Amino acid sequence: MTNTFRRAVIVGAGAGLLAMRPAYAALVATPSQTEGPFYPTSFPADMDNDLVQVRGQAARAMGTVLHLQGRVLDLNGRAVQGALVEIWQCDSQGLYDHPRQPGHERRDQAFQGYGRMLASGDGTYSFRTLKPVAYPGRAPHIHFKVATSTGRVLTSQFYVAGEPGNERDGVFRAAARDPRQRERIEMRLAPASGLEPGAVATTMDIVVG
Ligand SMILES: [Fe+2]
Repeated sequence: MTNTFRRAVIVGAGAGLLAMRPAYAALVATPSQTEGPFYPTSFPADMDNDLVQVRGQAARAMGTVLHLQGRVLDLNGRAVQGALVEIWQCDSQGLYDHPRQPGHERRDQAFQGYGRMLASGDGTYSFRTLKPVAYPGRAPHIHFKVATSTGRVLTSQFYVAGEPGNERDGVFRAAARDPRQRERIEMRLAPASGLEPGAVATTMDIVVG
């Protein structure tokens, strides 16, 4: 293949891709929010995407199990492949696995507190974790951070739709300035009894701007 011909093939393929690309409406980015003081200072030995079960422990974490899943997308709705997705949250008593957490020693040792995974080829991520609970000064929330392979980092938090505490939470209010941003960070929970008795589930796409 001559260089000129190869170039023509490449240009032709590129033009074809452009023509095939659907006209996505631009998506609203997931608003960024503070990382807060409880991002781990050291990572747990088990940091997979099942926070309810710690490897090597018989006990399951206390609390309501939440199946959290979704896709990491760019502003055009295209999958962001291979992004590192991290979540961290307090246990069912409102205690983080963090040295700065007062009462840290009372925390639920069966709760992993932090987990991470790489989004798959179509941008999908999933965690088995807990429905978040409130602690003094904050509405229930799950912290998350997404780092793409191109170096973009989004740090934010998910909340529970319908929690009256959301409107009193300054971090939530600052992030949910319009209804489309609110939709990005409020989890609508549905029973997931088919998946796991007593559990709830939600799908939250994360749009990295
Ligand atoms: Fe927090």
